[in-house]
Amino acid sequence: MVKAVVLGAAGGIGQPLALLLKANPLVTELSLYDIVNTPGVAADISHISTPAKVEGYLPADDGLKKTLTGADIVVIPAGVPRKPGMTRDDLFKINAGIVRDLANGIAATAPKAFVLVISNPVNSTVPIVAEVFKKAGVYDPKRLFGVTTLDVVRASTFVAEIVGDLSLSKDVVVPVVGGHSGVTIVPLLSQSSHPLPASVDTTSLDALVNRIQFGGDEVVKAKGGAGSATLSMAYAGAEFASKVLRAVKGEEGIVAPSYVSLEADPVGAAALTKELGTELAYFSSNVELGPGGVVKINPLGKITEAEQTLIKAAIPELQKNITTGVTFITEAK
Ligand code: NAD
Ligand code: LMR
Repeated sequence: MVKAVVLGAAGGIGQPLALLLKANPLVTELSLYDIVNTPGVAADISHISTPAKVEGYLPADDGLKKTLTGADIVVIPAGVPRKPGMTRDDLFKINAGIVRDLANGIAATAPKAFVLVISNPVNSTVPIVAEVFKKAGVYDPKRLFGVTTLDVVRASTFVAEIVGDLSLSKDVVVPVVGGHSGVTIVPLLSQSSHPLPASVDTTSLDALVNRIQFGGDEVVKAKGGAGSATLSMAYAGAEFASKVLRAVKGEEGIVAPSYVSLEADPVGAAALTKELGTELAYFSSNVELGPGGVVKINPLGKITEAEQTLIKAAIPELQKNITTGVTFITEAK
């Protein structure tokens, strides 16, 4: 029996994500929460002929508590999305408080659940959840994930496009490491399961890296003020949630990039820190998943000089984003 929860379930990501979770055979109960419209979304999704039992709650009458009671996995896409001209960091002002309040609810009602954070800026919202859990005495770094899967999904698609065969996109594996915003998104194309054609020169390689790093902006621009990626994010979030659930069920060898605390695997973290040449509290690296969440944080491995330069550029930005998230809780008045 697996109870999955979506917090922010009536939004652009929340609705299709809830749909995909309802279609996941590993999910037996699906509980949806939002500050608006959840009863309608839940009624609609509950008519889909798959086994999961669906409930929807609003904040009234202890709705968050009811949503979270017995939760095994909680996915959080609650919060405002970007408009053209904004950075993800511009969302912090509003989303930090939303994520903090939801994390308090999880700490009180479902402290053992796996928590998957989608709300931006992920580089800062994940540390916020961790600090709330630490304060509440329920923190397990192995169970907290920042969802960076959309960067991986984009990298697979864009590489398949360049290889000239979109049917490969599901099989193309490109580790995308660092974090989830601009220069902190570092695709390790030298480790792509499908090598790029020899015709890809340095200029087109740089353009591909840039497209992966700023794929989110491409969607924000195309939507012209109506928000950011929702459908591709729902797909990516459901894929990552499915990996976590498969690992919980005992499937071995599941490895995926995710933005995690380096406390989740101190041994793996030591090797990664050596490669980075500096200490970071959080980083998205290939993570091996198991029944208790993070089993192992993998090192970067062999990367090119150009990729090393990208990592160097990501580090100060990540450091700043992490501090912003941590101090939002630790220095709260
Ligand atoms: P949206 O505005 O369409 O939906 C957000 C939903 O959150 C709304 O339904 C809103 O009512 C709800 N909400 C607001 N405050 C809440 C609260 N306190 N409790 C519960 N629900 C609350 O936005 P969206 O397009 O779904 O994006 C949501 C977030 O996901 C944004 O922050 C966006 O930047 C982020 N995002 C992250 C990634 C990623 O790769 N991690 C990708 C795309 C979007
Ligand atoms: C994305 O990568 O699409 C998301 O983080 C949303 C955004 O603001 O770009």
